[in-house]
Amino acid sequence: MTVAALIPAAGSGTRLGRGPKAFVEVAGQSLLARSVAALAPHVGEVLVALPAGMDLPAGLRARAISGGETRQESVLRLLEATSAGIVLVHDAARPFLPAGVVGALLSAVAETGAATAALPVADTLVRGEGGQWQGAVPREGLWAVQTPQAFARGELLRAHRAACEQGYAATDDAGLIAWQGGAVTLVPGDPRLFKVTAPGDLALAHAVARLWDAGER
Ligand code: C5P
Repeated sequence: MTVAALIPAAGSGTRLGRGPKAFVEVAGQSLLARSVAALAPHVGEVLVALPAGMDLPAGLRARAISGGETRQESVLRLLEATSAGIVLVHDAARPFLPAGVVGALLSAVAETGAATAALPVADTLVRGEGGQWQGAVPREGLWAVQTPQAFARGELLRAHRAACEQGYAATDDAGLIAWQGGAVTLVPGDPRLFKVTAPGDLALAHAVARLWDAGER
């Protein structure tokens, strides 16, 4: 079955404060270039959703389309722009993607039709209000969900169209499959797959890039 990588990269990067986040560089390479490089060896094509009016930087082996107002809308556009049987949806904001995670996702999706990278929660979890501890939330059985997420494209497209019709919004694509009653396999992710969101994450990304670019993956 053909596999396409779909990269929603059309966010404005407001919380990071450095312009469109996908184009922010870490140790000389943009977040987007790092994500494309990690996915390209595993797939037949790489599609990227960019902010309207922006072009792909020279040298990136990918096809670009214009993203939507929300991440969900950007992913729907990407799904409609490919005919691949399997899609790997991956946020450009997660630049350090180990090959082993991609391999495990592709094995899982062949079995179950939907799979996501995720890590068991290690921190203590509490509900807070006004900066005050309100009560602990048991962390047993809780996972923090990452990307990539792998799907049979037809199933994910059906879930997206239903969400669009019914005005349902999820923060990721596996959430749409689960909302439709579908099963999603949890595949062990990696701490280095953290999402670059706030300025502090960028400092962490620079530290990881030093090891990553030296071949420690
Ligand atoms: O804002 P956040 O970090 O959660 O965005 C996750 C991913 O979704 C990012 O890679 C961002 O570029 C992408 N996105 C998008 N289209 C939007 C908003 C976000 O492709 N309208």
